[in-house]
Amino acid sequence: MLNRIINDDLIKRIRELKKKRDAVILAHNYQLPEVQDIADFGGDSLELSRKAASTTAKVVVFCGVHFMAETASILCPDKKIIVPDIQAGCPMANMITVDDLKKLKKEHPRAAVVGYVNTSAAIKAELDYCCTSTNAVAVVNALKNEKEIIFIPDKYLADYVSKKTGRKLISWNGFCPTHVKILPEDIKREKKFHPFAKVLVHPECLPAVCGLADEVLSTSKMCQYAKESPAKEFIIGTEVGIIYRLKKDNPGKEFYAASEAAVCPNMKRTTQEKVLWALEELKEEVKVSDVVRQRAKRAIDRMLEII
Ligand code: 13P
Ligand code: SF4
Repeated sequence: MLNRIINDDLIKRIRELKKKRDAVILAHNYQLPEVQDIADFGGDSLELSRKAASTTAKVVVFCGVHFMAETASILCPDKKIIVPDIQAGCPMANMITVDDLKKLKKEHPRAAVVGYVNTSAAIKAELDYCCTSTNAVAVVNALKNEKEIIFIPDKYLADYVSKKTGRKLISWNGFCPTHVKILPEDIKREKKFHPFAKVLVHPECLPAVCGLADEVLSTSKMCQYAKESPAKEFIIGTEVGIIYRLKKDNPGKEFYAASEAAVCPNMKRTTQEKVLWALEELKEEVKVSDVVRQRAKRAIDRMLEII
């Protein structure tokens, strides 16, 4: 009971400060349930950045990981983008440095360079095209005239896109440490328990896991698919935080995590308390410098022209 009172008070203070600061709270689909609950908008990484750009609020509290806040800063430089925990990063995004990418580009000077949105702003500044897990196949399909394509940093997303497009891609040895915890055995076991369930997995999963799925989808497409599908049960192969949103959006349906091990520790760093402190102190701010921003935005704009 005491906890509940303290929590209600916390939420009330967040609401008051949000108004006072003219702020909006955005939460990624992998955030803790209590953080999703206080958000004005939930979604995937690009949806949230686009939301940040379209809101009239002056301050955006971005509950996600660092590259997502940077993407919001690239798309809306006039807004103050703050993150409740500056340590919340994406290990996959950190698996490639600007020097690594420059070296790879030198080895393949004629290749078009496509990079996943899970990259730093400095890496995006080196890309020809950005892509997300929703549109990666469409972006590569649009590059018909390119003889060579570099695709970074996720080798498993690259493998999936390569199979879907029939294009050979020059990939990087990056991967998501959370999604690789979902194993083919997990899918097989859950299918035995729930034989009528549809299996939806994220393309960051291992190829053997993708091969066992009914659909390979980004987080936003999973939400859409679950809503529109006549199926009543789903096995979900991605970070477990999304299960909360799926259940909330679809009360008559059942969702089972393919593996409880698929937890992204960085996504769980944000708490309601940290959101309150961020609003109180208006920090930590994430701001991409103008030089990097302009070059990084080119790659995002080129992607948006394709989809
Ligand atoms: P989405 O772009 O689907 O939100 O995925 C981001 C991510 O970090 C997946 O692990
Ligand atoms: Fe990065 Fe994986 Fe966490 Fe997504 S789930 S933010 S790719 S570490």
